[in-house]
Amino acid sequence: MPAGTAAGRDSGASRQVDARLEQPPQLSVSPALFQKFQKLIYAETGIWLGSSKTALLCGRLFRRLRTLGITSLQSYYQCVAQPDQHEERARMIDAITTNETRFYREPRQFEFMVQSVLSRWRAEAEHQLRPKRVRIWSAGCSSGEEPYTVAMLLARHLPAEEGWDARLLATDISNRVLEKARKGIYPMARSTELPKDLLHSFMLRGMAERQGEMKVKVEIQQMVEFRRLNLDQESDLCEGPFDAIFCRNVLIYFDAASKRRVVENLVRHLMANGLLFVGHAENLHSVFPQLQSVEPTIYTKVGNKEGFGERTASPAFETCARS
Ligand SMILES: C[S@@+](CC[C@H](N)C(=O)[O-])C[C@H]1O[C@@H](n2cnc3c(N)ncnc32)[C@H](O)[C@@H]1O
Repeated sequence: MPAGTAAGRDSGASRQVDARLEQPPQLSVSPALFQKFQKLIYAETGIWLGSSKTALLCGRLFRRLRTLGITSLQSYYQCVAQPDQHEERARMIDAITTNETRFYREPRQFEFMVQSVLSRWRAEAEHQLRPKRVRIWSAGCSSGEEPYTVAMLLARHLPAEEGWDARLLATDISNRVLEKARKGIYPMARSTELPKDLLHSFMLRGMAERQGEMKVKVEIQQMVEFRRLNLDQESDLCEGPFDAIFCRNVLIYFDAASKRRVVENLVRHLMANGLLFVGHAENLHSVFPQLQSVEPTIYTKVGNKEGFGERTASPAFETCARS
């Protein structure tokens, strides 16, 4: 939006100045330069920015350019594409990735998890058909809402007090969201995303200077390890193979080739009969013979069973149950 448009809505002159400062300068990107960014971002992440995404590129890199005092995308490209500029490329990825997420996103999958998966694992463990050990991977975890939701369900249905050892690995390519995820602090306004029983059992309400915030309880945080990982690069994870992998609303950003690489890598880390949860717009139909659909967006890896592979609340937070 041009500065004039914003200023037209505001009455005071000072607000006009502020509005202009907030507007991206007219960052422009020629088709040739856009292609260079497209290739660089693809090589780094597997994310394919379609040619309609020029405004997105300019908008998302604007703040970074301003911080660096660089006025053109051409100059920024010359810097970020240098082979030794690993850190700057990580910052560019931080800016480019879409990190939208929620607690308990796509509730149907969590209902399935509780009703069909956790209850089965309990029954199998009771009959000594599996150990009381569960490993789950949240791949593309963003700021932590997804792995914390899963951890809360595990704590509720497969509690440590009954001998269960349940842990999650949560990975993302963006350092910025991982930092947020490790803190486990979110605006209290988002408490409505969680079912009340999970909110009351596993979240703390901020007090005094933390008013308006909520924090994941330490016992849940301790179940989750956050780590930077590029899904488009082969990785060997000592935590696997996993009983279940959540890779939701991540594959949509990849092209067919990177999606194939990523899913093959996920399947490699999934144990036989393990479950893969993808996002509602992500379809793996008939592309991956190792995967069988259980429900829309939920797949199982076919094959023989291989075996299965503190309440020290911060004083600034109290239980949400007292709301
Ligand atoms: C839209 S969020 C989805 C978060 C969560 N899974 C959910 O469904 O709510 C997509 C996440 O995937 C991450 N991502 C994108 N490309 C990635 C890659 N190549 N490797 C790892 N993470 C990636 C982004 O940084 C972003 O946080």
